[in-house]
Amino acid sequence: MRLNLGDIAPDFEAESTFGKIRFFDWLGTSWGLFFSHPEDYTPVCTTELGVVANLKQEFAERNVKTIGLSVDNLDAHKGWVKDIEEIIEGSVDFPIIVDEKKEIASLYGMIHSNEDANFTIRSVFIIGPDKKIKLILTYPMAVGRNFDEILRVIDALQLHENHKVVTPANWHQGDKVILDPNHSTGEQHQQTNYEEVKPYLRYIPQPKNQ
Ligand code: BEZ
Repeated sequence: MRLNLGDIAPDFEAESTFGKIRFFDWLGTSWGLFFSHPEDYTPVCTTELGVVANLKQEFAERNVKTIGLSVDNLDAHKGWVKDIEEIIEGSVDFPIIVDEKKEIASLYGMIHSNEDANFTIRSVFIIGPDKKIKLILTYPMAVGRNFDEILRVIDALQLHENHKVVTPANWHQGDKVILDPNHSTGEQHQQTNYEEVKPYLRYIPQPKNQ
């Protein structure tokens, strides 16, 4: 069955480069970025994991824990992590799950057989502290993900959770935000200094996140 936004993310126990992990226990009260990649020792995946490792501080500032997954085995994961650490001259401080039997990949719908029946594609799940799925992205094998966009979405999701505002097209940190028409009460809606373009399109300055 396909996972939808707002579903509780499936919990699981799995081996990883950081030992055995019970997903929900590992997440604790943090947000989670759970992403799959097709195969170890492949070029695009190498750049992706390197970028996530280098963004460690950005994710930590947002209270987000990151965790990867592929269907390769633990030895492959460990050897490949060494390569990535050599390339980025830094450490990969997050776990990569071993899913040789494709059980977790199946739970999360990470295998798209039209792309490849044997490997996970580039799935992204952002999971809130309530363990609900806040975002699902699916990239094909051939296209590396834009993790700046993923940080942008996390910022927008957290603004929505914390302040009941929504973000316009191409929004970036510091841009104006929109009063959420589905939440007509609350702190932001008491403001009178909004900029009204239409009664349903009211901008306010971006509240401080968190
Ligand atoms: C890669 O990560 O480079 C890759 C993986 C599978 C297919 C194509 C590229």
